[in-house]
Amino acid sequence: MNTTQSVYPALLSALQASSPEEKCRQTALIFSGFSDGLFDNRPSEKPLDFREAGRPAKPELVPSRAVRARKMNTPEGYAAMLHAICHIEFNAINLALDAAYRFRNLPTAFTGDWIRIAKEEAYHFQLMRGRLQAYGFDYGDFEAHNHLWDMAYKTAFDPLLRMALVPRVLEARGLDVTPAIRAKVAQKGDLATCDVLDIIYRDEIGHVKTGNRWYQYLCAERGLEPTALFRNLVARYDLFIFRGYVNIEAREQAGFSRFELDMLEDFEQSLKAGV
Ligand SMILES: [Fe+2]
Repeated sequence: MNTTQSVYPALLSALQASSPEEKCRQTALIFSGFSDGLFDNRPSEKPLDFREAGRPAKPELVPSRAVRARKMNTPEGYAAMLHAICHIEFNAINLALDAAYRFRNLPTAFTGDWIRIAKEEAYHFQLMRGRLQAYGFDYGDFEAHNHLWDMAYKTAFDPLLRMALVPRVLEARGLDVTPAIRAKVAQKGDLATCDVLDIIYRDEIGHVKTGNRWYQYLCAERGLEPTALFRNLVARYDLFIFRGYVNIEAREQAGFSRFELDMLEDFEQSLKAGV
């Protein structure tokens, strides 16, 4: 007799949880249940199509251009920077849960990978929120934008598109910007936040790597050439691949090939030159 339960109702409940504490709690339970073999990912009813995942009433979401730029050398400015990272991590929990929930008929390892990533994002969120609280602020105290989740929604109909554009573009951008943020935080002497950023950075390389692996897998399954397809998608979705500093080393660790990086750099140059 099969005693395992479908993981999908539990994933839906975690996705829809609006309180961050509750979302983190449910995510941890799903992770341990899935690891212990209590859940399975047998296809059941179709995934629910929702526009927004559960999130608290605050932070207030505003268009990305309307997020006020603050100077990091004021207490509010520094806290706003910590808050921005906190918000990214909160969205990342929803994004990972959504990948595990939405995309069905894939290997158990796919569902397991995104459940593990959701658990790691919940850990990042809790660590970063702790840093924000250490300065007398909390998650929700500043406005934020919804860029990450919007991309989740745009790519909700196809796991190949999701893998191509969320971990490999948006999360890989995190690898580019983290070293500069860490340097500023270190300059301020905030070593506790540096430690958190180091954990996030290390795990994030693994997440991009996981995205790369499943992107390659889905391309192979459909007989598509990964590099040419990626180039095409980037042009179609009008995305920035590189803007400012590019962390080639971290991207190579995350499974981007040297050839692919050279090709994309070249592509970015030709876009800028309007060729
Ligand atoms: Fe994260």
